[in-house]
Order: sequence, then structure tokens, then C-alpha cells
Amino acid sequence: MKTLQTKFCNVTFPSPLISVSGIVTSPQANAVLAKEKGIGAITWKSVSLRERKSHPVPVVVPYSSGYINSVGLQNPGLEQAAKDILHIKKQIRVPLIISIVAFQISEFYPLALGVAKTRPDFIEINLSCPNVDDEAGKPFGTDLLMTTLAIQEVKRAAGDIPVIAKLTPNVVDITEFARAAEEAGADAISAINTSGPGLLIDVSKRKPKLGHKIGGISGKAIKPLALRCVYEIAKTVNIPIIGIGGVSTGEDAIEMIMVGATLVGVGSAIFGVGNSIFPKIAQQMQDIMEKHHIRDLKSIKKCID
Ligand code: DHB
Repeated sequence: MKTLQTKFCNVTFPSPLISVSGIVTSPQANAVLAKEKGIGAITWKSVSLRERKSHPVPVVVPYSSGYINSVGLQNPGLEQAAKDILHIKKQIRVPLIISIVAFQISEFYPLALGVAKTRPDFIEINLSCPNVDDEAGKPFGTDLLMTTLAIQEVKRAAGDIPVIAKLTPNVVDITEFARAAEEAGADAISAINTSGPGLLIDVSKRKPKLGHKIGGISGKAIKPLALRCVYEIAKTVNIPIIGIGGVSTGEDAIEMIMVGATLVGVGSAIFGVGNSIFPKIAQQMQDIMEKHHIRDLKSIKKCID
């Protein structure tokens, strides 16, 4: 059988398939997911300095081409999250990526420092969050200077823990943000976060389907957008990429690697199928590799001009 083992930032992953942030939320559910065959790493739901409550329900709504969601970055805050991480870390044998989210540049350093004390394998910065210091509340990830400052602050706190910058597709030219992330010291890039935001209407109730009205679009609808972004980023930077967006089959995952991803995130498909999506995609990848005489994943990475 073909091996799916993958090296990313000098860390060995048993598979390139990783869970993305925000899908599996409870610490215990992550410990269960980590035991699934075919999974390469777990990404924790974004941690903020202080506790955040959920937006009004429903917070996730499926539609014909994917999902829209607006959870409101619900999490218990750094103090409780650090306890949860330390507890779960003992139970999992795959790398652990902790996502962090902040609302002001000044929050990134203490937050990353607190998370770094739990010794995760990686810290991922969720840059899609609005900057409350900005009058427009523009997400950090749509402003080049804010992107740079956020990454520099996290790098300063993270010490030897590699830092991943998670980019939003909601910009005109994602390569500018990839370049800024690399220059600011990011060790890797994950792309893409949800697109949009979008809006769905319940005609019978004459109101939006999401409690928060608007929310990020994910799932099958954004796969072509994600592939194009990863393709462009891979042509621009030398740091490795986690390709995320609409992956639910082995073919989707191989496409993501062919445009330049080293790891592949699975998110919405966990909602749709459950944890068994990981052994399913892993098996499909191995079948494709067998059929097309693909020696290993390294040999097909960034094979598209
Ligand atoms: C939320 C967070 C995200 O990073 C995203 O892309 C969409 C929604 C949230 O928690 O609401």
C-alpha cells in the first residue's frame, strides 16, 4: 500500500489529511477524531483571550452547494482552553495545531504566549476576524499591514513553535497576503478560510436562515476558489501550504496537492459524513495513487505549471 506519510515544517504527519479549525469543537470529540484512520493532525477551534458566546442559532446551515456558518468564534477563552489542550494532548498521537483569534493587535502576543505554554505542534492564526480598532471593523486578513503585525506578534511569542497564517480568500490578490505572511516570518500558510460572507433566505419564514443573518461559505461551492488560491500562493512563496476548501474525496485531496499543498484540510465534509470521512478519503487517495502510478505525494506536489 502507498504511504501517505508527509513531512511539513520538519514534523512528520501520518497522513496529509487534517481536520480544520472550528468543525469539531469539544475537546473530547477531538480526542476521538484523532484516533480515526487516515487522519494526519487535529486543528483546535480558534481560541481567543476571553470567552466568547455563540451567535443566535442556527449557526450552521447546509444548502445545495455547501454550508454557510456564523458561529461567532464561540470558545471558552485562553485560560480554560489551555487546560483543555493540556488534558487532550496526552490522549492524541497525531500533531496538534491550535488556532488563535484576536480582535486587536495587542491581544496576539499574550494569547500566543499562553497557547505556546501548552506546547502544541503548531499555532495557526485565524486572520479572518474583524479588527475592532479599525472603524470599519475590517478583518486583519484583508489588510496587508495588519496581517504583517499580527504574524510578527505571534512569532515573537511562539518561540520554536511553527506559526501558520490562515489566509482569507476575500481579497483582490491573495498572493500579496501570502508574500506578506512569508516576509513577516510565518512558517506556513493555510488557505482558504470561508468565503463571502453569504446570505440564505427561508422563504416560508421570510427571514434569513442563519441566526446571525450572514456567514462564511464553505464546502463544495468553494473548491475551485480554494484550488486557484493555493495554486497562486504556491507560485509566490517558498513556505509550505495547507490547502483547505471543499475537499470531500480522494480526488479533491490529490487536486489540492497537485496545485501545491503539502497538507489538505477537511472541514465541511466532517459535518456531512462524520469522522469516517478520513479513512474514506485516505483510501481513495491510495487507490488513485495505485491506478496512476504515483510513487508518493511529494512526486505530484505542485506539478501544474
Ligand atoms: C466563524 C469563524 C471563521 O473563521 C469563519 O471562517 C467563519 C465563521 C465563526 O466562528 O463565526
